[in-house]
Amino acid sequence: MNSDGGYESYIANSFILIFDVLMLVMAYHLYSIGEVDFPGMIIPIFALMSSYGPVSALANLGTTLQSTAASGGRILDIIEESPETEEITDKSAVVFANAECKNITFGYNGEAVLSDFSMKFPENKIVGVIGKSGSGKSTLLKLLMRFWKTDKGEVLISDTNIENINTSNLREMESYMTQETQFFKDTIANNIRIAKLDATDDEVIAACRKASVHDFIMTLPKGYETNVGELGETLSGGERQRIGLARAFLHNAPFMLLDEPTSNLDSLNEAVILKSLKEESSGKTVVLVSHRESTIRIADKAYSVEHGRVS
Ligand SMILES: Nc1ncnc2c1ncn2[C@@H]1O[C@H](COP(=O)(O)OP(=O)(O)O)[C@@H](O)[C@H]1O
Ligand SMILES: [Mg+2]
Repeated sequence: MNSDGGYESYIANSFILIFDVLMLVMAYHLYSIGEVDFPGMIIPIFALMSSYGPVSALANLGTTLQSTAASGGRILDIIEESPETEEITDKSAVVFANAECKNITFGYNGEAVLSDFSMKFPENKIVGVIGKSGSGKSTLLKLLMRFWKTDKGEVLISDTNIENINTSNLREMESYMTQETQFFKDTIANNIRIAKLDATDDEVIAACRKASVHDFIMTLPKGYETNVGELGETLSGGERQRIGLARAFLHNAPFMLLDEPTSNLDSLNEAVILKSLKEESSGKTVVLVSHRESTIRIADKAYSVEHGRVS
């Protein structure tokens, strides 16, 4: 029943224990009626008791093998995955100035999610994108990250098609906050540091203060060293989101792509985050995707997207 044994080994262990007790009673009975002598009683008891470990390990083997095979299967699945877009390494460096989507048509499985879609992201501006769920807002950000190739049209950064920008160059220029914040089984500090691997502790803390999550982290048993694996799902949606935002602040790139950064925040936290965002965005271009009017209000220009078109 315990986590590493499973139900089968619980049953097996119980049987072994019952058998042990029966053996003790029987051996004592045989000894007391003189059927066996003292060594004849004690040696079988020791032999049986010491077989407990190996037998229980054998009982556990089935469960262990099952989970090992399942883990192996998952690793093989990942190895067999082929990337949607290839890593680009042979282009010259581009410095971020502005970005643009020009007449993009894109669909995941043939059916267009974005149709003849155009939008400009000028230097030092916050561009708001608002629209119903499923209208293609997250898809727009993924195309700006070049996670997928467009079917028609082009994505330009500083007037260069992103197909002609090195992947590492693109990643340096862009801070991307996904709609769902993903965590790795590691400490909170290391989970935030993936946005900038050589960040000092002070930089991590500064990013968390901006994302209004520092005070929360300090209430955890081991602060920044608390293991997220242990917390996992116990972090609230709002806490996960603010940690996601701390990553984006830490990366500190000139082009920020934020996918619903305030959807799980109460209005007090939203106001604090928007104030930080406004301060942080100076000298940066921000694409702010949200379905909340209150969040979009900080944008310099806002577009409404409906069924993959700007409306
Ligand atoms: N990886 C994917 N594979 C197939 N379809 C997808 C994928 N991601 C999104 N979609 C579909 O594309 C449409 C737009 O999704 P999305 O860009 O996430 O919208 P929004 O962010 O505005 O809610 C939806 O119909 C969604 O089901
Ligand atoms: Mg979305």
